[in-house]
Amino acid sequence: MSNYHIKHLEEYYQVYRKSVNNPERFWEEIAEEHFLWRKKWDKVLEWDFKKPEVKWFQGAELNISENCIDRHLATRANKTAILFEPNNPDDDAEHITYKQLYHRVNQFANVLKAQGVKKGDRVCIYVPMIPELAIATLACARIGAIHSVVFAGFSATALATRINDSDCKIVITSDGSYRGAKTIDLKGIVDEALERCEGVETVLVAKRIHSNITMKVGRDKWLQPLLDVASNQCEAEVMQAEDPLFILYTSGSTGKPKGMVHTTAGYMVYTAYTFKNAFQYRENDVYWCTADIGWITGHSYIVYGPLCNGATTVMFEGVPSYPDYGRFWDIVDKHKVNQFYTAPTAIRALAKQGVEMVEKYDLSSLKVLGSVGEPINEEAWHWYNENIGKKKSPIIDSWWQTETGGIMITPIPYVTPTKPTYATLPFIGVQPCIMDEHGKELKGNQVEGRLCIKFPWPSIARTIWGNHQRYKETYFSTFENMYFTGDGALRDEVGYYRITGRVDDVIIVSGHNLGTAPIEDAINEHPAVAESAIVGFPHDVKGSALYGYVTLKDSGESRNQENLRKEINQLISDRIGPIAKLNKIQFTDGLPKTRSGKIMRRILRKIAEKDTSNLGDISTLLNPECVQDIMDNVL
Ligand code: WTA
Repeated sequence: MSNYHIKHLEEYYQVYRKSVNNPERFWEEIAEEHFLWRKKWDKVLEWDFKKPEVKWFQGAELNISENCIDRHLATRANKTAILFEPNNPDDDAEHITYKQLYHRVNQFANVLKAQGVKKGDRVCIYVPMIPELAIATLACARIGAIHSVVFAGFSATALATRINDSDCKIVITSDGSYRGAKTIDLKGIVDEALERCEGVETVLVAKRIHSNITMKVGRDKWLQPLLDVASNQCEAEVMQAEDPLFILYTSGSTGKPKGMVHTTAGYMVYTAYTFKNAFQYRENDVYWCTADIGWITGHSYIVYGPLCNGATTVMFEGVPSYPDYGRFWDIVDKHKVNQFYTAPTAIRALAKQGVEMVEKYDLSSLKVLGSVGEPINEEAWHWYNENIGKKKSPIIDSWWQTETGGIMITPIPYVTPTKPTYATLPFIGVQPCIMDEHGKELKGNQVEGRLCIKFPWPSIARTIWGNHQRYKETYFSTFENMYFTGDGALRDEVGYYRITGRVDDVIIVSGHNLGTAPIEDAINEHPAVAESAIVGFPHDVKGSALYGYVTLKDSGESRNQENLRKEINQLISDRIGPIAKLNKIQFTDGLPKTRSGKIMRRILRKIAEKDTSNLGDISTLLNPECVQDIMDNVL
């Protein structure tokens, strides 16, 4: 069917118009022809951004695991579904065919059932990038359990918060994980977390690093022996279109992490359709997304989108720097990767190593390069284009969010002419707009403001787990009848979009969204700390790094500042994870505040950026005198 695969620019405009003029008809056609339904829908779309409520394909029945696996068995049984590349390059890669994936997912599903997991139960998956991670998510989908994957780099506290928030009964983990030359004691982290999680009855443990771990009798079970005796046939649960498929946590600017809820049918249709087009995936291509399945990019574009299209999707366990900085290119060469999707932070880190690390490898298989997670700066864009794509593979700078489920603004490779640092045009069916601070839409080109979306697309998150009110306030209250993204954007003279960055207190460090509030809370737990404020500042590899201003209870404190810095970072690492550690910590006697007592982060941000030419009027501050002192001691 023509609309499913867009091949040139005129077709893009034509299909886009159709998708906007009659979204119901458009998505119905896509859904009808490319997926396996147990029962078709009664109604394509029902929505109300005021409530807010969005329902796609109501009345339909399906199972997404059948769409990802069973449907391909007739034609692709022996094709590689998941190509697992282990941490150690000397270990063999594992090619898991669709048939094998079918058996392994069904076995896993039967194990979950035997452990008492039922439709609608929440399952926490805290597993490194090994095949069991993908298989566990699909096994949950098969039996209708709601998976909550927690990135296996999060700390025990962060894990416990997420387990408790969605009330998971069962946790899947592994003894440990490999990360380059290091190993991480994952099971130990789970044990620590579970001291705070009363609801968890069972822990299933995969063996990966063969470390000596303790197993709590009655609670902890080795996974493999259970899989060995489980049947490899498991009837898929029939799901309603709007049944939740998964919960995935993302940081907010305040408060605890938000458990974004994605449902079944709309998410499936949108991730499959975007995958096919945004990567121009063709049968027998080898596709590789370097993200971790612990993030939305991995959910949508390692697992669901690719598998729905019968693709071969690479899963890489390791890190870009191990055994050396040529590892990504070694993998591209070895597996003849055709589509490569990564984050600007990785591109910048690799660019720093020089082209010698690239030139050793044959990258001629590459056809499409992708970027996601944060704005890609011009220098990184050109380096990627010249040295990796050799100026012949288009770069798709794809903008989207955990909340959007799938890619929203992106060039379509070989279709949309690219422009460095621009995400270019909305994807089919996406209706973005730019708003000013007063809630007025800025029409026409050459405008800059806040990025909103006017109309629902199939994979929009439906709610925040257990807190619909917060969902409404965060995304639908800033602008009337609009989904507010939290990002700033501009539209250039030809209508191309460029994302300018967050307009709230979320800071993106190495592609990870970090809210300032939870980090400040962690710092403030230190007995010597009175108050703290976190801002981002530009960093050549991480994009943004964290700068902390900390006031101590006893300002004359004679303690060793270096030790204090270490202790503060240790606290952050324990409470959130190493990704949230501060690059710089400045001790100050006071923090600039408004008369109502609110910390003026805008001023602190400018100081951290070393851009103090225009601090604005500081005389209205409660304590303007502290500003000079902070400037004098900036790090
Ligand atoms: C940012 C990741 C500029 C943005 C899929 C967004 C980007 C947040 C881009 C979501 C891009 C993502 N250009 N900024 N191509 N892609 N972002 O939820 O600020 O981890 O709101 O989803 O990352 O991050 P999240």
